[in-house]
Amino acid sequence: MEQTEKKKVVFSGIQTSGAITLGNYLGALKNWVEMQDDFFCFFSLADLHAITVRQDPQKFRQNTLEAYALFLACGIDPQKSIFFIQSHVSAHAELAWILNCYTQFGELSRMTQFKDKSAKYSDNINAGLFTYPSLMAADILLYQTEAVPVGADQKQHLELARNIADRFNHIYGNTFKVPEPYIPKVGAKIMSLQEPEKKMSKSDENVNGCVFILDPPETIMKKFKRAVTDSEAEVRFAEGKDGINNLMSIYSVVTGKTNEQIEADFAGKGYGDFKTAVGESVVELLSPVQHRYKELIADKAYLEKCYSEAAETARKFSQRTLDKVMKKVGFVLK
Ligand code: TYM
Repeated sequence: MEQTEKKKVVFSGIQTSGAITLGNYLGALKNWVEMQDDFFCFFSLADLHAITVRQDPQKFRQNTLEAYALFLACGIDPQKSIFFIQSHVSAHAELAWILNCYTQFGELSRMTQFKDKSAKYSDNINAGLFTYPSLMAADILLYQTEAVPVGADQKQHLELARNIADRFNHIYGNTFKVPEPYIPKVGAKIMSLQEPEKKMSKSDENVNGCVFILDPPETIMKKFKRAVTDSEAEVRFAEGKDGINNLMSIYSVVTGKTNEQIEADFAGKGYGDFKTAVGESVVELLSPVQHRYKELIADKAYLEKCYSEAAETARKFSQRTLDKVMKKVGFVLK
């Protein structure tokens, strides 16, 4: 694939440590799909990132393949985007090492995700968990990326990537494009359906808090019907109504309706009707994805062809940046 027109480069990634959630879909993946026509897109399954938490080898491999099929089912088009598996392109690990040497201990210590994860996995606070943001910076900077579509929780990592790029450029002259975050106005932070003050996350202990893209329709409906709300019984977006605000955000991203329209549509109706409507809209959104996924996951040869070709293209583009960096730093050239 050649970058024929001067389209802006987009890069984004997602970890493959478990099932993909509605939060991933609405906060990031949906934008990836929409950006494919207007940008030159690199999307990656960040499996190197995933091993910062211990993985069962068989499940891990299976999760990565399933995520690959699922993303194609969601609309990532291998004819339009370079959709590859991070560990297939060794430049990511190589540049990450170099960037580690241009990233300060203090900067990494301030990352809230590191603080949260090291509290959660206190028996395995490994160096990879700590230096994870340098690998993420390498992912982005290797492709001279201009825009990075992510949910709000990745903003801090992105700011660090920008700082690392600036620092490197300052020392060695212009080497990296400094990337901009691309965070959706609505849906950037989908909250747990059970504890709406917390982010919806695949590692949520309460299974009803998190909707997975491959949940059967009846499970999705059940999770929405059980969603935590408040005692007011009025569908309106307001402070202190975290549960309803979250359901309204989900409904808004899925249907394209504004909060005012939603409030008007549900005026005088109870929360029960609203929860059912949100659940049904999500089921309707995900049904074709689930159907397509079943076909794709059965076609291993097609998946392999897609990720192998994409890795080859990604290697070509990333190597250009890596060569440039190695030359500037002063390594003896091969
Ligand atoms: P990850 O795998 O945790 O999440 C993938 C994407 O989904 C978004 N997201 C959400 N958006 C809205 N509401 C939620 N509840 C929610 N949960 C997750 C995340 O913001 C993210 O955009 N480090 C990254 C993966 C990564 C990456 C990169 C991203 C690796 N390399 C380079 C961008 C660029 C991560 O762990 O995302």
